[in-house]
Amino acid sequence: MYKRQTELSQSRLTTVPVLDPQYCFIKPFVAHTERNFYENGEVFSDRPAGLRFIDGESRGIAGTSGELWKIHRKFAMTTLRNFGMGKTCMESTIKSEIGCLLETIKMERGQPIDLADTIHISIANIICAVAFSKRFEDGDGEFLGLWKNIEDLLKRKGVTVGLRSKFLEFLPIDIFGIKHFQSIFKQTNDYLREVYEEHVQTFDGDRIRDYTDAFIQEQKSAELNGVVSDFTVPQALGELTDLFQAGTETTATTLRWALLYMLKYPETQDKIRAEIDEFIGSGNAPSLKDRSIMHYTEAFISETLRFACIVPMAAPHCATRDFKLGDLLIPKASIVVPNLESVLSDPEIWENPDQFSPERFLDENGRCIQRDELIPFSLGPRVCLGQSLARMELFLFLTILVQQFIFTRPDDEKDTPLDIVGVRGIVHIPTPYRLCAKHRL
Ligand code: HEM
Repeated sequence: MYKRQTELSQSRLTTVPVLDPQYCFIKPFVAHTERNFYENGEVFSDRPAGLRFIDGESRGIAGTSGELWKIHRKFAMTTLRNFGMGKTCMESTIKSEIGCLLETIKMERGQPIDLADTIHISIANIICAVAFSKRFEDGDGEFLGLWKNIEDLLKRKGVTVGLRSKFLEFLPIDIFGIKHFQSIFKQTNDYLREVYEEHVQTFDGDRIRDYTDAFIQEQKSAELNGVVSDFTVPQALGELTDLFQAGTETTATTLRWALLYMLKYPETQDKIRAEIDEFIGSGNAPSLKDRSIMHYTEAFISETLRFACIVPMAAPHCATRDFKLGDLLIPKASIVVPNLESVLSDPEIWENPDQFSPERFLDENGRCIQRDELIPFSLGPRVCLGQSLARMELFLFLTILVQQFIFTRPDDEKDTPLDIVGVRGIVHIPTPYRLCAKHRL
């Protein structure tokens, strides 16, 4: 089985300890030949048991399966859209967070700064505004405590898959961080439970403030109609945890990679700035409607998503029945992990995949092109439900930052090579770096 796993996944950089013979690593998209993993997405749309536990039950969106998952994924998509995901009305929330980030950067007056904490708080504030109307101030100890723990965990390899290995859970030592994972998960959960209880106390059915209120409204309407529903407290906590964790770490980390690539390849920063100067100028702030004309910037974001490959392995899926994938029989209940990295760095798909080149997303007329093989958000029924929000955030943050600042490396670090390898765990995270931001306007 292990041989088959390696043959299929062709993983070059990510190593994941696998002790459970039921695991199968899949290259989910093979250029020009078979795409049957996702064409038969329903077969793999379940998650293995035990991914997300709230009060002893598997809850939330990312960790649930079957009808429970379908109902709540639909509820999440509809509610997030109602609160502006993928629509321009979300723009003002995003821009207001960017405004605070700009102030923090300006205060540094061009001195070297590591923006990681500030970026994570800004991005978290966007999903938190929609999910439960909460805002963290820059440097908020409570948020930074939660985030540092989560990031520490995400740097580790093997936790996602290790979760399924009952054997590991009973070991007295925490080799793959499973117990650590559970304690961090509980910490986030305790925080969100308080947020949820506050909402229950202040709920007003005529004024739905956010996702949490929309959830409570569903819960109350089921109670009123005497219907047994899945809109329970553990389910609410599971969904808020999913949105808070998945909606913050990935996008904030992508933004950190984007800034790092602009330092490493300054010509890309110059080209984005030239595009901003040509199409937007200095008087107006970039807006989402500019995405359709900012071809190089969009290509830069696509290449950042490909090259950084934030989530090398998607979350584990589970086969709902026996299935033949090429020559390989995948028995029912096998855990199937789509290896996104094997696609994003495949030399048969991308010419010189180890080179950072936004141009690969431009056609001969300089227009940005969509490429089906760009799958950082995965594919199929389990595709990331926040991808439109993530792309909106990345565009607005990058364009507004580059319009206002010129980013360079600190003078005293210019002779040291910049590390663009980072740490590859569950999430691919850059090693800490500093930059100088010179105000342009
Ligand atoms: C650059 C940013 C992001 C990347 C690269 C990313 C990537 C992913 C990936 C690879 C998956 C697993 C898909 C699978 O199992 O096959 C996923 C799932 C998910 N993401 Fe994202 N994500 C990003 C941003 C977001 C944001 C902003 C949100 C919040 C709205 C979000 C919410 C979720 C949720 C709830 C799931 C679970 C979906 C399900 O199981 O049905 N993500 N994401």
